[in-house]
Amino acid sequence: MLTRSCLALKGASARLSQSAVRSMSSGLKPEYEFIKAEVNGNAGLITLNRPKALNALCDGLLKDLIHAARAFDNDDNVGAIVITGSEKAFAAGADIKEMATREYIEVYTKNLFESWTEVTKITKPTIAAVSGFALGGGCELAMMCDIMIASESAKFGQPEITLGVIPGCGGTQRLIRAVGKSKAMEMVLTGNMIDAHQAERDGLVCKVVPNDKLIETALKMANKIASFSRPAVAMAKETVNSAYELNLAEGVRFERRIFHSMFSTEDQKEGMAAFVGKRPAKWAHK
Ligand code: CAA
Repeated sequence: MLTRSCLALKGASARLSQSAVRSMSSGLKPEYEFIKAEVNGNAGLITLNRPKALNALCDGLLKDLIHAARAFDNDDNVGAIVITGSEKAFAAGADIKEMATREYIEVYTKNLFESWTEVTKITKPTIAAVSGFALGGGCELAMMCDIMIASESAKFGQPEITLGVIPGCGGTQRLIRAVGKSKAMEMVLTGNMIDAHQAERDGLVCKVVPNDKLIETALKMANKIASFSRPAVAMAKETVNSAYELNLAEGVRFERRIFHSMFSTEDQKEGMAAFVGKRPAKWAHK
């Protein structure tokens, strides 16, 4: 007869091999150096994992992050992706030690930070779940995500001015769109941080939750998004993001054309028939 601890071990190893299978099927590497990546229901969860450097975003971390995000983007089982850090730091910025001695010609020819824009090319919704410091590139990475949720301990800032430089991953551009000119200027020109509640008042984050509810809240939201028609979700994300690039008339026209195109999907027929038939929709994701 199997003892209780033996059964627990068997269960744990079954879970382990299941998660290994999931890792394989989603195109994830079995292990990453600077992140952890796992599937929770229909959500991909990426945890930045460089605790000694407060998740400073070195080249290797960015490579790991982009690899896992792309793997989730290509995984039919995953409908949305959560990116988080530790309780102390979402990420304390680009890696200053890695950058400090670089020369102009190197950063110019290698187009330093250009690869970060890959995060914005993920077609599935991305949710930044932020605890602790989100500074410099950390704040910029969070702003590249589609939705930001903060825990009570979150602190946002663009302290590059204190290093004799300016934000280099979209901070000057995305911050002004999120919080307006005066507040963006204050953050970029003084390096001052704002706390989670200020970030919520300013419209930088969608909600603030207790520290111990952050991941749960983000995963719940990601799984809710993942429960809808994948093409509809992807088109909604693309259309909302187009507002960054287009004027109002062009944006509204783009939205209407995307809306029209949805009448070619099975999910539009199913979603509307389900409403009329007073039953839950069964999405075909096409
Ligand atoms: N790069 C490299 N290492 C970093 C880092 C960063 N951005 N932030 C923190 N670390 C390292 C520290 O050097 C320290 O390492 P050691 O133990 O080897 O000395 C370790 O992480 C812990 O940091 P602290 O001892 O400083 O921790 P603290 O709690 O006293 O302070 C902090 C926390 C206020 C976040 C402080 O670490 C800090 O100010 N970090 C730098 C923040 C910053 O300036 N970010 C912008 C970077 S530039 C950028 O991001 C450009 C861009 O636009 C992309």
